[in-house]
Amino acid sequence: MFYTIIGTQWGDEGKGKIVDWISSKADLIVRFQGGNNAGHTIKVGKNVYKLNLLPSGIINNKKCAIGNGVVLDPWALINEINSLKKLGINIDSKNLYIADNVCLILPIHKILDQINEKARGNKELGTTKKGIGPAYEDKVGRRAIRISDLKYPKLLKQRINNLHDYHKDKLIKNNMKLQNYYNELLSMSDYLNSFTVPLWKMINEMTVNNKTIVFEGAQGSMLDIDFGTYPYVTSSNTTSGQIFAGTGFSSRNNHRIFGITKAYTTRVGAGPFPTELKDNIGEYLGFKGQEFGTVTKRKRRCGWVDSVLLKQSIKLNGITDIVLTKLDVLDELDKINICIGYLIDGNKYDYLPNEEFLYDKIIPVYKTIDGWLSKTAGINTLDKLPKQALNYIRLLEKLMGTKISIVSTGPDRKETIDINGTLLNI
Ligand code: GDP
Ligand code: IMO
Ligand code: MG
Repeated sequence: MFYTIIGTQWGDEGKGKIVDWISSKADLIVRFQGGNNAGHTIKVGKNVYKLNLLPSGIINNKKCAIGNGVVLDPWALINEINSLKKLGINIDSKNLYIADNVCLILPIHKILDQINEKARGNKELGTTKKGIGPAYEDKVGRRAIRISDLKYPKLLKQRINNLHDYHKDKLIKNNMKLQNYYNELLSMSDYLNSFTVPLWKMINEMTVNNKTIVFEGAQGSMLDIDFGTYPYVTSSNTTSGQIFAGTGFSSRNNHRIFGITKAYTTRVGAGPFPTELKDNIGEYLGFKGQEFGTVTKRKRRCGWVDSVLLKQSIKLNGITDIVLTKLDVLDELDKINICIGYLIDGNKYDYLPNEEFLYDKIIPVYKTIDGWLSKTAGINTLDKLPKQALNYIRLLEKLMGTKISIVSTGPDRKETIDINGTLLNI
């Protein structure tokens, strides 16, 4: 059986929590895109773990893998492994596998990310400055360094020189100097390559042997390089189609695709956000939901849930089940809005159009319902939910045309409702 976890909004929907929860019965958890721009939080009792690059299954001591669709910063990976080890999480070549064809994020990419952002002036995207975009550009430009190149010092030197030559004018123009990191990178080779495998082969063997694999998405569908709010997006495909290209997995059967969806909406960084609330309710959601970026600590923008955007995500990803997270954050609101359509220049839209110049003109159309004004926080069975919270869930299902299978009522692993009670019996 295969499970995919995809964010349906602009990221930070609670993917890490759900991957951790579902991973208890999984044989492998795999990241297939993005890099350490992701920040996935997992809470188990008193312990809180923050993961950027490592799949969230690592907390459950599960086998985890980083697929070729990811861009991997070796320094960031080693730091993350070391800090998790300090928290008692075991990570070695028996539970972490890295695709031997994964491309690297190097110090030059972080500098380029800064230069590019500065050059955009007031059109800044608000990237995480982790070098994600420039690393993907070099991958597509066929100049990238792959992890297995580290095993061949002469080849590595040539490739780094080639890469730096390509970017040197930009660095000089921006007065940016780069430390020589060749020796440092070389010294990491044995350690990093102790994790590498032809991951496509391993995944396909596991598939044949009926193993359970969880694919862990990062970011959200609206940050997808093709289908997101371009150019205010990340540089990878964040939608489920990327699983295949980003890991080499090839089965088309027995796959449930979970769309992780906040009961409201957030976005960090610049870009359109039709249901954004710039008032005290927006402030309240940010405060109650603790909406601060895991990676950059920036305040997340908050707004109402948007069923137009969710229907779009469901279609783009082939989502079979919705996981509704952070329901508890709405507990104290007396009225709750759900966006059910857009008006642009007086015309009705049932989808988010692709033209950037239309984004600012979107007027959301809302359906308003009464809140439940009682506590859902921590509830882990459906029958204990207030009736009006259940109505909210049922109304969202109807508007999205997709069933909600899991509801999350708090950050902890235990604060989760498995609606049909079947998912952890995988
Ligand atoms: P991810 O990037 O999708 O993994 O999400 P993040 O970890 O960046 O952000 C989600 C935040 O909400 C984290 O701090 C989680 O601990 C927290 N969280 C997850 N689910 C719930 C929930 O149901 N209720 C509340 N109150 N917090 C949650
Ligand atoms: P998780 O996996 C929320 C946003 C950045 C910026 C844009 C481009 O935790 O949900 P990038 O550094 O990727 O080039 O930045 O994408 N962004 C995220 N927003 N959650 C994330 O990941 C994000 N990863 C990138 O804020 O607007
Ligand atoms: Mg996050």
